[in-house]
Amino acid sequence: MAFPVSRPRRLRTTHAMRELVAETRLHVSDLVAPLFVREGITSPQPIVSLPGVVQHTRESLVAEVVALRDLGVRAVILFGIPLAKDEVGSGAYDPNGIVQVALRDLRAAVGDDMVIMADLCVDEYTSHGHCGIVGADGDVDNDATLAIYCKAALAQAEAGAHVVAPSGMMDGQVGAIRAALDGAGFQNVAIMAYSAKYASALYGPFRDAVDVQIAGGGHRKGYQQDWRNTRESMREVFEDLEQGADIVMIKPALSYLDVISHVREAVDVPVAAYHVSGEYSMIKAAAERGWIDHDAVALEQLTAIKRAGADIILTYLTRWFAEYSS
Ligand code: PBG
Repeated sequence: MAFPVSRPRRLRTTHAMRELVAETRLHVSDLVAPLFVREGITSPQPIVSLPGVVQHTRESLVAEVVALRDLGVRAVILFGIPLAKDEVGSGAYDPNGIVQVALRDLRAAVGDDMVIMADLCVDEYTSHGHCGIVGADGDVDNDATLAIYCKAALAQAEAGAHVVAPSGMMDGQVGAIRAALDGAGFQNVAIMAYSAKYASALYGPFRDAVDVQIAGGGHRKGYQQDWRNTRESMREVFEDLEQGADIVMIKPALSYLDVISHVREAVDVPVAAYHVSGEYSMIKAAAERGWIDHDAVALEQLTAIKRAGADIILTYLTRWFAEYSS
């Protein structure tokens, strides 16, 4: 006697059926485009290890952001490359530093049509390439660095950032920045915290993009997380929330889908994930050789990050997706 067999395949029969039952849908509003702006250049400079991404001039940055807005993109995050670097990364808080002038340009061009975010760190601006002030013992001095981050937050807020995004993994950075912003009347400037940021080998192309070499063949294992650990991510996330983070981020994305999923279940704020430079470049390199289908893999990866629980995805694929999906 035949019995009714469960047949999940019934719901996979046609494209229309698959669209109807899809659990996850990627939308251009989910994405944030990371953009680089470099001081003192007259034409955009390609970044060899990040095909399709450039170091912008002030003018080409504005043009790119306007184009992204017209494609329906809601947010960008800015990184700066200064002409000169120094021990304390003063370009990060100079009112005339490259990101600050670029923020003013962008607010003048697109106003509140988009969410303009600024990465808040000093590694692009320090001569030694660390994300903070290096103390006499050669280690990054956490609390001395917080003072610099507060100055950078104020400079970015004054220049018009809607969101500041501290990425340096110093303890207490979110609380210090929140207090500084509130103290200066910037209660409405939001903080997107790079909360669970791992000491990943996937940031290589980004460091080419921002001309950062960590002094002495150094590394960031003293402040970024060990990728063998998940529990400590929860500690980082909860500490950032207690200190006033509005959005928490996990970075990188694909090797940390378990972390994204844990965080999504545990918090009620928006969760962001950063599909980082190395993740992007691997797709580009393999696709260039004809080994994988660029569009199919890009879509699968970004959708997987959303499926794991990310509400917001920072990705160098933003423009591609906006064009692909329109
Ligand atoms: C630090 C920062 C890094 C990235 C974003 N912010 C680099 C690092 O921690 O060394 C990496 C982003 C990417 O790889 O795409 N300011």
